[in-house]
Amino acid sequence: MVLVAGSANLDFVVRAPHIPAPGETVLGGAFQTFAGGKGANQALACARAGGVATHMLLALGEDAFAAPIEASLRSAGVTLHTVRPSGVATGTAFICVDDQGENAITVAPGANACLQAAHLPALQGLSHLLLQLEIPLPTVAAYALAAQAAGLRVVLNAAPAQALSPALLAAVDLLVVNEGELRTLAGNQGSVAQCLARLPCPAVVVTLGARGCVAREGDIFHAQTSFHVPVVDTTGAGDTFCGALVAALASQHTMAHALRQASAAAALACTQMGAQSSVPQAADVAAFLTQASQANEAEALLALRQFAGLP
Ligand code: RIB
Repeated sequence: MVLVAGSANLDFVVRAPHIPAPGETVLGGAFQTFAGGKGANQALACARAGGVATHMLLALGEDAFAAPIEASLRSAGVTLHTVRPSGVATGTAFICVDDQGENAITVAPGANACLQAAHLPALQGLSHLLLQLEIPLPTVAAYALAAQAAGLRVVLNAAPAQALSPALLAAVDLLVVNEGELRTLAGNQGSVAQCLARLPCPAVVVTLGARGCVAREGDIFHAQTSFHVPVVDTTGAGDTFCGALVAALASQHTMAHALRQASAAAALACTQMGAQSSVPQAADVAAFLTQASQANEAEALLALRQFAGLP
C-alpha cells in the first residue's frame, strides 16, 4: 500500500502559440480547468497503474475548487485523508501550454501550505511514502523521517527544485528528479552519472525528457529510452512517471521494469491535455507497450548512455 502526501491544485490552463516573455501579452485559445497538483497527479497515476492500493494525504479549501479534485482522485480509487483548514483557498495553478506542448506554471499554494507534521495518518500497512516539494519543506522532512522510522520506503520527487537538507536526503530511499533538479541538488559539475553518484540516496532516477531516463541503484546504472508519441501537453507527465514508478516498485517489480512502465505511462500522458485527465489506465499502458516499437532503439540507448556519461 502506498501513501502519497502532497499538493492538490485546480489547474487553470490556456493554450497559446508560445509562452509569454516577461511583459508580453499573448492571445491564447479556450480556457480549461483540470484537476492537478504534483501530489494529487502522482497519487492518481499510482492508482491507475494498479497492483497496489493508493492513499493520499492532501489539504483542500472549503470552496468550489476542491470538488473536481476530490472527484478525480476518488474516481481512480484513491483513498483520501483530507485536511480542511478554514478560510484558506484550495491550491491553484496557472498554466500556459504552447504549441509544442511545453508549459510554464505558477502555483498559488493555498491550503497546500497548511499541511503540517501532525497531519500524517497512521503508517501501518504501508510499504511506500511518496513525497514532492509543493508543501512546506519542514512538513516534507517530518513525513520522511516518520516514514523511515516506521520502516517504509521513502520516495521523494524533488520538484519544484530547491536545496534539501542532509537530514532529509538521509531519509530518502529513492529520489526522482529531472536534470535541472539533479543539478540543483548535486551541483553543476560533471556528467549526469557523476551527479547521480554524488547524491547520498541509495537510489536516484533522473528523467531526461525525450532522451529517456537513467537510474542509479547502489552502484548499478539503468538506462531507459523514451517512447515517441505525438505531444499535445507535457503537463503532469513527470508526475505520471513518478506514480507509475512507485506503483511498479511497490508491486515488487525490478527497477528496470518499473522504469519501462513509468516511461510508457509518461509518454501516453503527453498525448492528452491536462494533468490528471491525461494519466493513462493500466490497460492502455499495457496495450501501448505490446505495440510500441522504439525505432532505432539501440542507437537511442547508446546516445542516452553517452549523454548521461554512464560507465
Ligand atoms: O506537475 C504538474 C503540476 O504542477 C500541475 O498539475 C500543477 O498543479 C502544478 O502543481
